[in-house]
Amino acid sequence: MRIEVLADPAAVARRAAGVVADVLRATPDAVLGLATGGTMRPVYDELVALQRRGEVDFTRATTLNLDEYAGLAADHPASFAAYMRAALFSRVPVDPARIHLMRGDAPDPQAEARRYEAAITAAGGIGLQLLGIGRNGHIAFNEPGTEASTRTRLAPLAAATQQVNAPAFHPQPVPERALTMGIATILEARRCLLVATGADKAPAVARMVQGPVGPDCPASFLRGHPDVTVLLDPAAARDLAAAAPSG
Ligand code: PGA
Repeated sequence: MRIEVLADPAAVARRAAGVVADVLRATPDAVLGLATGGTMRPVYDELVALQRRGEVDFTRATTLNLDEYAGLAADHPASFAAYMRAALFSRVPVDPARIHLMRGDAPDPQAEARRYEAAITAAGGIGLQLLGIGRNGHIAFNEPGTEASTRTRLAPLAAATQQVNAPAFHPQPVPERALTMGIATILEARRCLLVATGADKAPAVARMVQGPVGPDCPASFLRGHPDVTVLLDPAAARDLAAAAPSG
């Protein structure tokens, strides 16, 4: 696990977008695992800026998102499908046939999870997987208690996660479950790039990097992956022992 502490959240976003752009320049038909959340928004903004400068091209890329709230149709404003349209897919040229999102309102979630795993396999596996981290150590919607062997499935959301995400649904209740790639699915990506900014992520980051590996902190399973880069701002790195700014 390589840790890079950048000067501030903007530098983290630029660095993350730069990694994605490098992958797309080297491999225009790369398979990207995409993440949602507040941390990722500036990353997508940077990617859009790079695209407008002609420095990155998504037209041949395949994308597979990590997760989606159960029960939400793609046109629900709080869906991750809507997030991705607003953050990236409506802003840069993409091939809609290469965009993969889980159908939150699929009538048979188990079948939808199998379909999604098959889509990852058919794409040739994920080359670069973007990840955020939850304050409780989740990655995607793999909440504390999730085992390393899990694959794409319907999973319950932790109460803390529901609370964090409640404002997006107000006054409606937050979904209690989500479709999510599993830990084993994520660990099969050839490379992972986890991004965390802000002091509220510092305890989860420290547990991921320095705590015991296990289901109590699902992000800790990334330490078993051979190619993980973690991009942090100084606030998110605060609880790490001997973290030094690397530029
Ligand atoms: P956030 O979400 O970027 O909105 O904090 C990250 C996550 O929960 O994985």
